Amino acid sequence: MSEIETNLPGTEERIQILDKRNETAFQGGGEDRIKKHKTGSRLTARERLDVLLDPGSFVEIDRFVTHRSTNFGMEKTKTPGDGVITGYGRVNGKLVYVYSQDFTVFGGSMSRTQANKILKVMNLAKENGAPIIGLKDSGGARIQEGVEALAGYADILCANTKLSGVVPQISAIMGPCAGGAVYSPSLTDFIFMVKETSYMFVTGPDVIKTVTHEDVTKEDLGGAVTHSQKSGVAHFAAEDDKHCLLMIRELLSFLPSNNLDDPPILPTKDKPDRIEQDLNTFIPDNSKRPYDMKELITKVVDESYFLELQKHYAQNVIIGFARLNGRSVGVVANQPQVLAGCLNIEASKKAARFIRFCDSFNIPIVSFVDVPGFLPGTEQEWNGIITHGAKLLYAYSEATVPLITVITRKAYGGAYIVMSSKHLGSDVNLAFPTAEIAVMGAEGAVNIIHRGKLKEASDPAKLRGELTADYEEKFNNPYVAAELGYIDEVIEPCTLRKRLVDSLEMLKNKRQPNPAKKHGNIPL
Ligand code: HXC
Repeated sequence: MSEIETNLPGTEERIQILDKRNETAFQGGGEDRIKKHKTGSRLTARERLDVLLDPGSFVEIDRFVTHRSTNFGMEKTKTPGDGVITGYGRVNGKLVYVYSQDFTVFGGSMSRTQANKILKVMNLAKENGAPIIGLKDSGGARIQEGVEALAGYADILCANTKLSGVVPQISAIMGPCAGGAVYSPSLTDFIFMVKETSYMFVTGPDVIKTVTHEDVTKEDLGGAVTHSQKSGVAHFAAEDDKHCLLMIRELLSFLPSNNLDDPPILPTKDKPDRIEQDLNTFIPDNSKRPYDMKELITKVVDESYFLELQKHYAQNVIIGFARLNGRSVGVVANQPQVLAGCLNIEASKKAARFIRFCDSFNIPIVSFVDVPGFLPGTEQEWNGIITHGAKLLYAYSEATVPLITVITRKAYGGAYIVMSSKHLGSDVNLAFPTAEIAVMGAEGAVNIIHRGKLKEASDPAKLRGELTADYEEKFNNPYVAAELGYIDEVIEPCTLRKRLVDSLEMLKNKRQPNPAKKHGNIPL
Protein backbone atom coordinates (compact mmCIF):
# COMPACT_ATOMS: atom_id res chain seq x y z
CA MET A 1 0.00 0.00 0.00
CA SER A 2 1.49 3.38 -0.98
CA GLU A 3 1.78 6.12 1.66
CA ILE A 4 -0.67 9.00 1.25
CA GLU A 5 0.99 12.42 1.14
CA THR A 6 -0.61 14.99 3.49
CA ASN A 7 0.09 18.60 4.41
CA LEU A 8 0.09 17.72 8.10
CA PRO A 9 3.29 18.61 9.96
CA GLY A 10 5.77 15.89 10.80
CA THR A 11 6.65 14.75 14.31
CA GLU A 12 9.44 17.24 14.90
CA GLU A 13 7.37 20.11 13.66
CA ARG A 14 4.49 18.99 15.88
CA ILE A 15 6.78 19.20 18.89
CA GLN A 16 7.77 22.70 17.83
CA ILE A 17 4.09 23.63 17.65
CA LEU A 18 3.60 22.26 21.15
CA ASP A 19 6.59 24.27 22.39
CA LYS A 20 5.16 27.40 20.83
CA ARG A 21 1.77 26.83 22.37
CA ASN A 22 3.38 26.23 25.75
CA GLU A 23 5.43 29.39 25.34
CA THR A 24 2.28 31.40 24.60
CA ALA A 25 0.56 29.94 27.66
CA PHE A 26 3.54 30.79 29.88
CA GLN A 27 3.32 34.42 28.71
CA GLY A 28 -0.13 34.84 30.35
CA GLY A 29 -1.41 38.35 29.67
CA GLY A 30 1.86 39.38 28.01
CA GLU A 31 5.07 41.13 28.96
CA ASP A 32 3.61 44.55 29.65
CA ARG A 33 0.96 43.27 32.00
CA ILE A 34 3.46 41.01 33.77
CA LYS A 35 5.75 44.03 34.25
CA LYS A 36 2.86 46.06 35.68
CA HIS A 37 1.87 43.16 37.95
CA LYS A 38 5.33 42.57 39.38
CA THR A 39 5.63 45.60 41.61
CA GLY A 40 7.60 45.16 44.82
CA SER A 41 7.90 41.53 45.81
CA ARG A 42 4.78 40.36 43.94
CA LEU A 43 5.26 37.14 42.02
CA THR A 44 3.47 35.90 38.91
CA ALA A 45 0.89 33.12 39.19
CA ARG A 46 3.46 30.55 37.99
CA GLU A 47 6.25 31.83 40.23
CA ARG A 48 3.89 31.46 43.20
CA LEU A 49 3.40 27.80 42.42
CA ASP A 50 7.17 27.36 42.22
CA VAL A 51 7.55 28.66 45.78
CA LEU A 52 4.57 26.76 47.16
CA LEU A 53 5.37 23.34 45.76
CA ASP A 54 8.35 21.02 46.10
CA PRO A 55 10.79 21.75 43.25
CA GLY A 56 9.83 20.08 39.98
CA SER A 57 6.66 18.53 41.40
CA PHE A 58 4.06 20.67 39.64
CA VAL A 59 1.98 19.03 36.92
CA GLU A 60 -0.32 21.36 35.03
CA ILE A 61 -3.79 20.39 33.84
CA ASP A 62 -5.82 22.27 31.20
CA ARG A 63 -3.04 24.58 30.05
CA PHE A 64 -4.71 25.18 26.70
CA VAL A 65 -8.28 25.73 27.83
CA THR A 66 -9.74 29.01 26.58
CA HIS A 67 -12.97 30.89 27.22
CA ARG A 68 -15.90 30.57 24.83
CA SER A 69 -17.39 34.01 25.13
CA THR A 70 -18.20 36.00 22.03
CA ASN A 71 -19.58 39.06 23.82
CA PHE A 72 -17.87 42.41 23.14
CA GLY A 73 -15.44 40.84 20.65
CA MET A 74 -14.07 38.48 23.30
CA GLU A 75 -13.49 35.77 20.69
CA LYS A 76 -10.47 37.82 19.56
CA THR A 77 -8.87 37.88 22.99
CA LYS A 78 -8.28 34.31 24.02
CA THR A 79 -5.36 33.38 26.26
CA PRO A 80 -4.45 29.72 26.83
CA GLY A 81 -5.38 28.76 30.39
CA ASP A 82 -7.87 31.64 30.64
CA GLY A 83 -6.38 33.32 33.69
CA VAL A 84 -5.89 30.40 36.03
CA ILE A 85 -3.17 27.77 36.28
CA THR A 86 -4.45 24.48 37.68
CA GLY A 87 -2.88 21.16 38.56
CA TYR A 88 -1.25 19.20 41.33
CA GLY A 89 2.11 18.90 43.05
CA ARG A 90 3.75 18.04 46.36
CA VAL A 91 4.36 19.89 49.60
CA ASN A 92 6.99 18.16 51.72
CA GLY A 93 6.33 15.09 49.59
CA LYS A 94 2.56 15.11 50.12
CA LEU A 95 0.08 15.45 47.25
CA VAL A 96 -1.88 18.72 47.00
CA TYR A 97 -4.12 20.16 44.31
CA VAL A 98 -3.65 23.80 43.39
CA TYR A 99 -4.95 26.65 41.32
CA SER A 100 -3.32 30.01 40.88
CA GLN A 101 -5.18 32.91 39.30
CA ASP A 102 -3.25 35.03 36.83
CA PHE A 103 -4.13 38.71 37.21
CA THR A 104 -2.46 39.51 33.89
CA VAL A 105 -5.28 37.72 32.03
CA PHE A 106 -8.55 39.70 32.34
CA GLY A 107 -7.58 40.59 35.90
CA GLY A 108 -7.75 36.91 36.89
CA SER A 109 -11.52 37.25 36.57
CA MET A 110 -13.75 34.21 36.80
CA SER A 111 -15.10 32.99 33.47
CA ARG A 112 -17.23 29.91 32.95
CA THR A 113 -14.19 28.01 31.67
CA GLN A 114 -11.98 29.25 34.50
CA ALA A 115 -14.60 27.92 36.92
CA ASN A 116 -14.64 24.57 35.11
CA LYS A 117 -10.87 24.29 35.45
CA ILE A 118 -11.03 25.01 39.17
CA LEU A 119 -13.93 22.60 39.65
CA LYS A 120 -11.90 19.88 37.92
CA VAL A 121 -9.06 20.10 40.46
CA MET A 122 -11.49 20.42 43.36
CA ASN A 123 -13.13 17.22 42.21
CA LEU A 124 -9.76 15.47 41.93
CA ALA A 125 -8.94 16.68 45.47
CA LYS A 126 -12.19 15.15 46.72
CA GLU A 127 -11.78 11.85 44.93
CA ASN A 128 -8.12 11.43 45.84
CA GLY A 129 -8.32 12.86 49.36
CA ALA A 130 -5.74 15.62 49.16
CA PRO A 131 -5.81 19.29 50.26
CA ILE A 132 -6.77 21.97 47.75
CA ILE A 133 -4.99 25.31 47.77
CA GLY A 134 -6.31 28.33 45.87
CA LEU A 135 -4.00 31.28 45.18
CA LYS A 136 -6.44 34.11 44.49
CA ASP A 137 -5.75 37.17 42.45
CA SER A 138 -8.99 38.10 40.77
CA GLY A 139 -11.29 41.00 40.02
CA GLY A 140 -14.32 38.72 40.58
CA ALA A 141 -16.85 37.55 38.03
CA ARG A 142 -15.77 38.19 34.41
CA ILE A 143 -17.93 41.13 33.57
CA GLN A 144 -18.13 40.34 29.83
CA GLU A 145 -19.67 36.91 30.54
CA GLY A 146 -22.56 37.99 32.77
CA VAL A 147 -24.59 35.21 34.30
CA GLU A 148 -22.30 32.49 32.88
CA ALA A 149 -19.51 33.76 35.12
CA LEU A 150 -21.90 33.94 38.07
CA ALA A 151 -22.92 30.35 37.45
CA GLY A 152 -19.25 29.35 37.48
CA TYR A 153 -18.79 31.05 40.84
CA ALA A 154 -21.93 29.46 42.21
CA ASP A 155 -20.69 25.99 41.27
CA ILE A 156 -17.39 26.65 43.06
CA LEU A 157 -19.13 27.96 46.20
CA CYS A 158 -21.30 24.85 46.30
CA ALA A 159 -18.26 22.60 45.75
CA ASN A 160 -16.39 24.44 48.56
CA THR A 161 -19.26 23.65 50.89
CA LYS A 162 -19.41 20.00 49.88
CA LEU A 163 -15.63 19.66 50.33
CA SER A 164 -15.73 21.26 53.78
CA GLY A 165 -14.63 18.66 56.32
CA VAL A 166 -13.50 16.23 53.58
CA VAL A 167 -10.12 17.70 52.64
CA PRO A 168 -8.39 20.79 54.04
CA GLN A 169 -9.12 23.83 51.86
CA ILE A 170 -6.66 26.72 51.96
CA SER A 171 -6.97 30.13 50.29
CA ALA A 172 -4.26 32.72 49.81
CA ILE A 173 -5.41 36.18 48.81
CA MET A 174 -2.56 37.53 46.73
CA GLY A 175 -4.07 40.55 45.01
CA PRO A 176 -7.18 42.71 44.91
CA CYS A 177 -10.08 40.28 45.36
CA ALA A 178 -13.59 41.58 45.02
CA GLY A 179 -17.11 40.20 44.82
CA GLY A 180 -17.26 36.48 44.19
CA ALA A 181 -13.50 36.23 44.66
CA VAL A 182 -13.96 36.64 48.43
CA TYR A 183 -16.85 34.29 49.12
CA SER A 184 -15.09 31.14 47.99
CA PRO A 185 -12.18 31.76 50.42
CA SER A 186 -14.61 32.41 53.24
CA LEU A 187 -15.97 28.88 52.79
CA THR A 188 -12.48 27.39 53.04
CA ASP A 189 -10.66 26.51 56.25
CA PHE A 190 -7.79 29.00 56.27
CA ILE A 191 -7.27 32.37 54.64
CA PHE A 192 -3.84 33.89 54.14
CA MET A 193 -3.37 37.51 53.05
CA VAL A 194 -0.35 39.54 51.98
CA LYS A 195 0.22 42.92 53.60
CA GLU A 196 -0.26 45.95 51.35
CA THR A 197 -0.88 44.00 48.14
CA SER A 198 -3.96 41.94 48.85
CA TYR A 199 -7.51 43.08 49.52
CA MET A 200 -10.81 41.40 50.18
CA PHE A 201 -14.14 43.13 49.94
CA VAL A 202 -17.62 42.34 48.76
CA THR A 203 -17.96 45.85 47.33
CA GLY A 204 -15.03 48.22 46.81
CA PRO A 205 -14.47 51.82 47.98
CA ASP A 206 -16.15 53.39 44.93
CA VAL A 207 -19.43 51.55 45.41
CA ILE A 208 -19.34 52.28 49.14
CA LYS A 209 -18.88 55.99 48.42
CA THR A 210 -21.91 55.97 46.13
CA VAL A 211 -24.18 54.01 48.44
CA THR A 212 -23.24 55.13 51.95
CA HIS A 213 -21.10 58.24 51.21
CA GLU A 214 -18.29 56.75 53.31
CA ASP A 215 -14.72 57.52 52.31
CA VAL A 216 -12.46 54.53 52.84
CA THR A 217 -9.22 53.34 51.29
CA LYS A 218 -8.78 49.82 49.87
CA GLU A 219 -6.29 49.09 52.62
CA ASP A 220 -8.58 50.23 55.43
CA LEU A 221 -11.60 48.54 53.95
CA GLY A 222 -10.16 45.13 53.24
CA GLY A 223 -6.37 44.99 53.59
CA ALA A 224 -4.46 42.25 55.38
CA VAL A 225 -4.21 44.25 58.61
CA THR A 226 -7.94 45.00 58.65
CA HIS A 227 -8.90 41.38 58.09
CA SER A 228 -6.41 39.96 60.55
CA GLN A 229 -7.17 42.45 63.33
CA LYS A 230 -10.68 43.85 62.94
CA SER A 231 -12.84 41.37 61.08
CA GLY A 232 -11.00 38.13 61.83
CA VAL A 233 -11.62 37.00 58.23
CA ALA A 234 -7.92 36.24 57.65
CA HIS A 235 -5.91 33.72 59.66
CA PHE A 236 -2.46 34.95 58.60
CA ALA A 237 -1.10 38.27 57.34
CA ALA A 238 2.16 37.64 55.48
CA GLU A 239 4.87 40.19 54.77
CA ASP A 240 5.07 39.36 51.05
CA ASP A 241 4.13 36.68 48.50
CA LYS A 242 7.02 34.39 49.34
CA HIS A 243 6.38 34.57 53.08
CA CYS A 244 2.71 33.77 52.47
CA LEU A 245 3.48 30.68 50.38
CA LEU A 246 6.05 29.37 52.86
CA MET A 247 3.52 29.80 55.68
CA ILE A 248 1.07 27.63 53.76
CA ARG A 249 3.73 24.90 53.54
CA GLU A 250 4.24 25.26 57.30
CA LEU A 251 0.53 24.94 58.02
CA LEU A 252 0.21 21.85 55.84
CA SER A 253 2.90 20.09 57.90
CA PHE A 254 0.35 19.83 60.74
CA LEU A 255 -2.59 18.58 58.70
CA PRO A 256 -3.73 15.20 57.45
CA SER A 257 -4.57 14.94 53.76
CA ASN A 258 -8.25 14.21 54.35
CA ASN A 259 -10.87 13.40 56.97
CA LEU A 260 -10.09 9.67 56.93
CA ASP A 261 -6.37 10.18 57.39
CA ASP A 262 -4.44 10.62 60.64
CA PRO A 263 -2.44 13.82 61.10
CA PRO A 264 1.27 13.49 60.29
CA ILE A 265 3.75 12.50 63.00
CA LEU A 266 7.08 14.30 62.67
CA PRO A 267 10.22 13.05 64.37
CA THR A 268 11.44 15.26 67.21
CA LYS A 269 14.57 15.48 69.32
CA ASP A 270 12.61 17.02 72.19
CA LYS A 271 12.32 14.45 74.99
CA PRO A 272 8.73 13.41 75.75
CA ASP A 273 9.42 13.42 79.51
CA ARG A 274 11.27 16.75 79.56
CA ILE A 275 10.77 18.41 82.95
CA GLU A 276 10.12 22.15 82.65
CA GLN A 277 11.14 23.28 86.12
CA ASP A 278 10.18 26.93 85.45
CA LEU A 279 6.53 25.95 85.32
CA ASN A 280 6.43 25.33 89.06
CA THR A 281 6.80 29.08 89.64
CA PHE A 282 5.24 30.30 86.41
CA ILE A 283 1.73 31.12 87.69
CA PRO A 284 1.90 34.34 89.79
CA ASP A 285 1.06 34.05 93.51
CA ASN A 286 -1.39 36.91 93.14
CA SER A 287 -4.23 35.47 91.09
CA LYS A 288 -5.09 38.91 89.71
CA ARG A 289 -1.71 39.22 88.03
CA PRO A 290 -1.59 38.34 84.33
CA TYR A 291 0.97 36.09 82.66
CA ASP A 292 1.56 35.11 79.08
CA MET A 293 -0.19 31.84 78.27
CA LYS A 294 1.74 31.64 74.99
CA GLU A 295 4.95 31.36 76.96
CA LEU A 296 3.46 28.45 78.90
CA ILE A 297 2.41 26.73 75.67
CA THR A 298 5.84 27.08 74.09
CA LYS A 299 7.47 25.63 77.22
CA VAL A 300 5.68 22.30 76.79
CA VAL A 301 5.31 21.70 73.04
CA ASP A 302 7.98 20.12 70.79
CA GLU A 303 10.95 22.40 70.20
CA SER A 304 8.88 25.31 71.57
CA TYR A 305 7.23 25.60 68.15
CA PHE A 306 3.70 26.96 68.12
CA LEU A 307 2.02 28.04 64.87
CA GLU A 308 -0.51 30.59 66.02
CA LEU A 309 -3.60 31.40 63.90
CA GLN A 310 -5.49 34.70 63.99
CA LYS A 311 -2.72 36.08 66.18
CA HIS A 312 -4.00 39.65 66.13
CA TYR A 313 -7.75 38.98 66.43
CA ALA A 314 -9.64 38.26 69.67
CA GLN A 315 -6.34 37.94 71.48
CA ASN A 316 -8.07 36.91 74.71
CA VAL A 317 -8.18 33.43 73.23
CA ILE A 318 -5.21 31.73 71.56
CA ILE A 319 -5.53 29.11 68.82
CA GLY A 320 -2.93 27.29 66.77
CA PHE A 321 -1.05 24.11 66.01
CA ALA A 322 1.84 22.47 67.83
CA ARG A 323 3.32 18.99 68.22
CA LEU A 324 3.67 16.78 71.26
CA ASN A 325 6.23 14.01 70.78
CA GLY A 326 5.75 14.47 67.04
CA ARG A 327 1.93 14.36 67.01
CA SER A 328 -0.04 17.36 65.72
CA VAL A 329 -2.38 18.96 68.23
CA GLY A 330 -4.73 21.90 68.04
CA VAL A 331 -4.21 24.29 70.94
CA VAL A 332 -6.98 26.42 72.41
CA ALA A 333 -6.05 28.64 75.35
CA ASN A 334 -7.29 31.59 77.34
CA GLN A 335 -4.88 34.51 77.44
CA PRO A 336 -4.87 36.16 80.92
CA GLN A 337 -2.95 39.11 79.42
CA VAL A 338 -5.93 40.27 77.34
CA LEU A 339 -9.30 41.08 78.94
CA ALA A 340 -8.06 38.92 81.84
CA GLY A 341 -8.75 35.94 79.56
CA CYS A 342 -12.54 36.52 79.55
CA LEU A 343 -14.52 34.91 76.75
CA ASN A 344 -16.40 37.31 74.49
CA ILE A 345 -18.22 37.03 71.17
CA GLU A 346 -15.13 37.19 68.95
CA ALA A 347 -13.14 34.75 71.08
CA SER A 348 -16.00 32.25 71.16
CA LYS A 349 -16.40 32.32 67.39
CA LYS A 350 -12.65 32.12 66.79
CA ALA A 351 -12.14 29.13 69.08
CA ALA A 352 -15.31 27.30 68.03
CA ARG A 353 -14.46 27.33 64.33
CA PHE A 354 -10.94 26.11 65.06
CA ILE A 355 -12.20 23.27 67.28
CA ARG A 356 -14.55 22.17 64.51
CA PHE A 357 -11.68 22.19 62.01
CA CYS A 358 -9.53 20.01 64.29
CA ASP A 359 -12.43 17.67 64.94
CA SER A 360 -13.15 17.34 61.20
CA PHE A 361 -9.57 16.30 60.55
CA ASN A 362 -8.80 14.04 63.53
CA ILE A 363 -6.47 16.49 65.26
CA PRO A 364 -6.55 16.14 69.08
CA ILE A 365 -7.24 19.33 71.00
CA VAL A 366 -5.33 20.51 74.06
CA SER A 367 -7.03 23.33 75.99
CA PHE A 368 -5.21 25.53 78.48
CA VAL A 369 -7.70 27.17 80.81
CA ASP A 370 -7.45 30.37 82.82
CA VAL A 371 -10.80 32.06 82.44
CA PRO A 372 -12.69 34.30 84.87
CA GLY A 373 -15.94 34.06 82.88
CA PHE A 374 -17.80 35.55 79.96
CA LEU A 375 -17.21 39.26 79.44
CA PRO A 376 -20.13 41.14 81.01
CA GLY A 377 -21.82 44.19 79.47
CA THR A 378 -24.60 45.48 77.27
CA GLU A 379 -22.39 45.49 74.18
CA GLN A 380 -21.85 41.75 74.53
CA GLU A 381 -25.46 40.94 75.44
CA TRP A 382 -26.99 43.03 72.66
CA ASN A 383 -24.68 41.53 70.09
CA GLY A 384 -25.66 38.02 71.08
CA ILE A 385 -23.03 36.57 73.41
CA ILE A 386 -25.65 33.98 74.33
CA THR A 387 -25.73 32.62 70.79
CA HIS A 388 -22.03 33.08 70.07
CA GLY A 389 -20.83 31.67 73.39
CA ALA A 390 -23.01 28.64 72.68
CA LYS A 391 -20.94 27.99 69.54
CA LEU A 392 -18.02 27.14 71.76
CA LEU A 393 -20.14 24.86 73.94
CA TYR A 394 -21.44 23.18 70.83
CA ALA A 395 -18.03 22.74 69.23
CA TYR A 396 -16.47 21.09 72.28
CA SER A 397 -19.53 18.93 72.99
CA GLU A 398 -19.69 17.72 69.41
CA ALA A 399 -15.96 16.96 69.12
CA THR A 400 -14.99 13.29 69.10
CA VAL A 401 -11.21 13.73 68.81
CA PRO A 402 -9.09 13.27 71.95
CA LEU A 403 -9.65 16.26 74.25
CA ILE A 404 -7.12 17.12 76.92
CA THR A 405 -7.65 20.03 79.31
CA VAL A 406 -5.25 21.75 81.68
CA ILE A 407 -6.61 24.25 84.20
CA THR A 408 -3.72 26.48 85.18
CA ARG A 409 -5.61 28.97 87.33
CA LYS A 410 -9.16 30.32 87.06
CA ALA A 411 -12.04 28.24 85.76
CA TYR A 412 -15.10 30.12 86.85
CA GLY A 413 -18.78 29.64 86.17
CA GLY A 414 -20.10 29.00 82.67
CA ALA A 415 -16.63 29.53 81.28
CA TYR A 416 -15.40 26.56 83.38
CA ILE A 417 -18.02 24.38 81.71
CA VAL A 418 -17.39 25.75 78.22
CA MET A 419 -13.61 25.41 78.23
CA SER A 420 -13.46 21.66 77.57
CA SER A 421 -14.70 20.53 80.96
CA LYS A 422 -15.20 16.86 81.77
CA HIS A 423 -18.92 17.46 81.47
CA LEU A 424 -18.68 18.30 77.74
CA GLY A 425 -16.75 15.13 76.95
CA SER A 426 -13.12 15.98 77.63
CA ASP A 427 -11.05 12.81 78.07
CA VAL A 428 -8.24 13.94 80.33
CA ASN A 429 -8.64 16.90 82.68
CA LEU A 430 -5.55 18.02 84.52
CA ALA A 431 -5.16 20.89 86.97
CA PHE A 432 -2.23 22.77 88.43
CA PRO A 433 -2.31 23.15 92.25
CA THR A 434 -2.98 26.85 91.51
CA ALA A 435 -6.33 26.03 89.84
CA GLU A 436 -9.42 27.78 91.16
CA ILE A 437 -12.60 26.04 90.10
CA ALA A 438 -15.66 27.91 91.32
CA VAL A 439 -18.90 29.54 90.27
CA MET A 440 -17.21 32.95 90.42
CA GLY A 441 -14.31 34.85 92.00
CA ALA A 442 -14.29 35.05 95.83
CA GLU A 443 -15.07 38.78 96.14
CA GLY A 444 -18.04 38.66 93.80
CA ALA A 445 -19.36 35.54 95.49
CA VAL A 446 -19.10 37.03 99.01
CA ASN A 447 -20.88 40.22 97.94
CA ILE A 448 -23.81 38.17 96.71
CA ILE A 449 -24.22 35.38 99.23
CA HIS A 450 -23.38 37.50 102.31
CA ARG A 451 -25.05 40.76 101.25
CA GLY A 452 -27.32 40.83 104.34
CA LYS A 453 -24.54 40.05 106.81
CA LEU A 454 -22.24 42.66 105.28
CA LYS A 455 -24.94 45.34 105.48
CA GLU A 456 -25.46 44.77 109.18
CA ALA A 457 -21.78 44.29 110.12
CA SER A 458 -20.16 46.85 112.42
CA ASP A 459 -16.90 46.45 110.43
CA PRO A 460 -17.97 45.35 106.91
CA ALA A 461 -14.42 45.51 105.47
CA LYS A 462 -13.08 43.15 108.14
CA LEU A 463 -15.99 40.77 107.71
CA ARG A 464 -15.67 40.86 103.92
CA GLY A 465 -11.99 39.95 104.25
CA GLU A 466 -12.79 36.99 106.51
CA LEU A 467 -15.62 35.73 104.35
CA THR A 468 -13.52 36.09 101.19
CA ALA A 469 -10.68 34.12 102.77
CA ASP A 470 -13.17 31.47 103.83
CA TYR A 471 -14.61 31.22 100.29
CA GLU A 472 -11.14 31.11 98.75
CA GLU A 473 -10.13 28.30 101.06
CA LYS A 474 -13.23 26.34 100.19
CA PHE A 475 -13.37 26.84 96.42
CA ASN A 476 -10.20 28.45 95.05
CA ASN A 477 -8.44 25.16 94.60
CA PRO A 478 -8.68 22.14 92.32
CA TYR A 479 -9.49 19.62 95.06
CA VAL A 480 -13.27 19.87 95.26
CA ALA A 481 -13.44 19.08 91.53
CA ALA A 482 -10.75 16.38 91.92
CA GLU A 483 -12.74 14.74 94.75
CA LEU A 484 -15.75 14.61 92.44
CA GLY A 485 -13.73 13.13 89.56
CA TYR A 486 -14.20 16.21 87.37
CA ILE A 487 -10.42 16.64 87.43
CA ASP A 488 -8.50 13.43 86.78
CA GLU A 489 -5.24 14.56 88.28
CA VAL A 490 -3.71 17.54 90.03
CA ILE A 491 -0.18 17.68 88.68
CA GLU A 492 3.07 19.32 89.56
CA PRO A 493 3.32 21.92 86.75
CA CYS A 494 6.89 20.98 85.78
CA THR A 495 5.62 17.55 84.65
CA LEU A 496 3.04 18.98 82.25
CA ARG A 497 4.80 18.01 79.00
CA LYS A 498 5.12 14.38 80.04
CA ARG A 499 1.50 14.24 81.20
CA LEU A 500 0.28 15.68 77.87
CA VAL A 501 2.41 13.28 75.82
CA ASP A 502 1.25 10.30 77.93
CA SER A 503 -2.39 11.35 77.61
CA LEU A 504 -2.16 11.72 73.83
CA GLU A 505 -0.53 8.33 73.51
CA MET A 506 -3.21 6.77 75.73
CA LEU A 507 -5.99 8.36 73.63
CA LYS A 508 -4.53 7.71 70.19
CA ASN A 509 -7.09 5.06 69.25
CA LYS A 510 -10.08 6.89 70.67
CA ARG A 511 -13.30 6.07 68.84
CA GLN A 512 -16.41 7.89 69.95
CA PRO A 513 -19.08 8.21 67.29
CA ASN A 514 -21.85 10.74 67.79
CA PRO A 515 -25.45 9.58 67.25
CA ALA A 516 -26.35 9.22 63.55
CA LYS A 517 -28.03 12.33 62.17
CA LYS A 518 -28.01 14.41 59.03
CA HIS A 519 -26.20 17.27 60.73
CA GLY A 520 -26.61 19.27 63.90
CA ASN A 521 -27.86 22.82 64.09
CA ILE A 522 -25.00 24.85 65.57
CA PRO A 523 -26.20 28.24 66.89
CA LEU A 524 -25.00 30.47 64.05
C1 HXC B 1 -13.20 41.35 33.42
C2 HXC B 1 -11.57 42.51 34.54
C3 HXC B 1 -12.30 42.37 35.76
C4 HXC B 1 -13.53 41.67 35.73
C5 HXC B 1 -10.49 43.47 36.17
N1 HXC B 1 -10.47 43.20 34.85
N2 HXC B 1 -11.60 42.98 36.74
N3 HXC B 1 -12.03 42.00 33.39
N4 HXC B 1 -13.93 41.18 34.55
N5 HXC B 1 -14.25 41.46 36.84
C6 HXC B 1 -9.44 43.55 33.88
C7 HXC B 1 -9.38 45.02 33.58
O1 HXC B 1 -10.30 45.34 32.55
C8 HXC B 1 -7.93 45.20 33.14
O2 HXC B 1 -7.83 44.73 31.81
C9 HXC B 1 -7.20 44.21 34.00
O3 HXC B 1 -8.18 43.27 34.46
C10 HXC B 1 -6.56 44.86 35.22
O4 HXC B 1 -7.54 45.61 35.89
P1 HXC B 1 -7.25 47.09 36.45
O5 HXC B 1 -8.55 47.68 36.83
O6 HXC B 1 -6.37 47.81 35.48
O7 HXC B 1 -6.39 46.75 37.76
P2 HXC B 1 -6.36 47.51 39.16
O8 HXC B 1 -6.28 48.99 38.93
O9 HXC B 1 -5.25 46.87 39.93
O10 HXC B 1 -7.74 47.21 39.86
C11 HXC B 1 -8.09 45.90 40.24
C12 HXC B 1 -9.58 45.81 40.65
C13 HXC B 1 -10.44 46.42 39.50
C14 HXC B 1 -9.78 46.54 41.96
C15 HXC B 1 -9.89 44.33 40.88
O11 HXC B 1 -10.03 45.85 38.23
C16 HXC B 1 -11.90 46.18 39.70
O12 HXC B 1 -12.55 46.89 40.47
N6 HXC B 1 -12.46 45.20 38.97
C17 HXC B 1 -13.86 44.91 39.01
C18 HXC B 1 -14.26 44.32 40.34
C19 HXC B 1 -15.70 43.87 40.36
O13 HXC B 1 -16.60 44.69 40.58
N7 HXC B 1 -15.95 42.58 39.98
C20 HXC B 1 -17.24 42.01 39.80
C21 HXC B 1 -17.70 41.62 41.20
S1 HXC B 1 -19.28 40.91 41.18
P3 HXC B 1 -6.72 45.28 30.80
O14 HXC B 1 -7.08 44.67 29.50
O15 HXC B 1 -6.80 46.75 30.85
O16 HXC B 1 -5.40 44.76 31.32
C22 HXC B 1 -18.99 39.32 41.47
C23 HXC B 1 -20.25 38.54 41.63
C24 HXC B 1 -20.02 37.13 42.12
O17 HXC B 1 -17.91 38.87 41.54
C25 HXC B 1 -20.81 36.88 43.36
C26 HXC B 1 -20.67 35.45 43.85
C27 HXC B 1 -21.20 35.30 45.25
